[in-house]
Amino acid sequence: MGEVLGTGGMPCEIAVDPLEGTDLVARGDAGAIAVCVIGAPGGVMAAPDMYMQKLCVGANAKGRVDITAPIADTLDTIARCYDRRIRDLSVVVLDRPRHEELIEEIRALGARIKLIPDGDITASMSAAVRGTGDHVYMGIGGSTEGVITAAALECLGGEIQARMWPKDDAQRERLKPFGLEDTNRVLTARDLAPQPMYVLATGVTDGYLLKGVRYFSDGARTHSIVMDLQSRTVRFVDTIHMFSRTPLREIRL
Ligand code: FBP
Repeated sequence: MGEVLGTGGMPCEIAVDPLEGTDLVARGDAGAIAVCVIGAPGGVMAAPDMYMQKLCVGANAKGRVDITAPIADTLDTIARCYDRRIRDLSVVVLDRPRHEELIEEIRALGARIKLIPDGDITASMSAAVRGTGDHVYMGIGGSTEGVITAAALECLGGEIQARMWPKDDAQRERLKPFGLEDTNRVLTARDLAPQPMYVLATGVTDGYLLKGVRYFSDGARTHSIVMDLQSRTVRFVDTIHMFSRTPLREIRL
């Protein structure tokens, strides 16, 4: 955080999560990505690293949800936004003991729940893309992931609402220099990533949005998403990397 890089050119800020889902990779589970946000100077919050409560939705529910509202109201609103019943919503939550009550509540309301072992940036992006089958991500995850999520959702037309979630007094102290000591304050993309320019992510293991890295004997194939807020484009990039100067012996689909 705060490291100065480069030799000149256009000034920008970079937030990187080189491996989002370390344990996913270790277990060979789906959904690990390498992700990076490039923003204008001051365009990406240098959030203190701790937990953050998040509510992430796609464009359909943007401007309609409220992280301070009861879960029943939130799910009811999202269901209306998607013109369906609560029981036809898929709610993504990190599988953690701290979410036991939340999970019970969602189940009691009849919504479908998707418990993920790790990777809430991917889960939040998935909730903002139609066709993934996911409609909302909620729960407590990392704050730096929250900043990257805010930028990604800005590109995808979705919304994040968040609250810092310090676990003790020492963490509460660390919030003061950032003016974030009021843990009831609802943070939005305007606070977390006010001026993102690009969000880039590459799949490491297979996921809903991105395929993982596939290796051949002399090359590899990667699948990335490039979100550009300036040209307002979202591109999926499928790349074959050749490891030697000689042509690949084979290219596989
Ligand atoms: P890392 O790959 O950096 O370990 O993060 C994985 C992750 O699942 C994030 O997506 C999430 O925000 C955070 O960890 C949750 O933290 P914890 O594992 O402590 O519950």
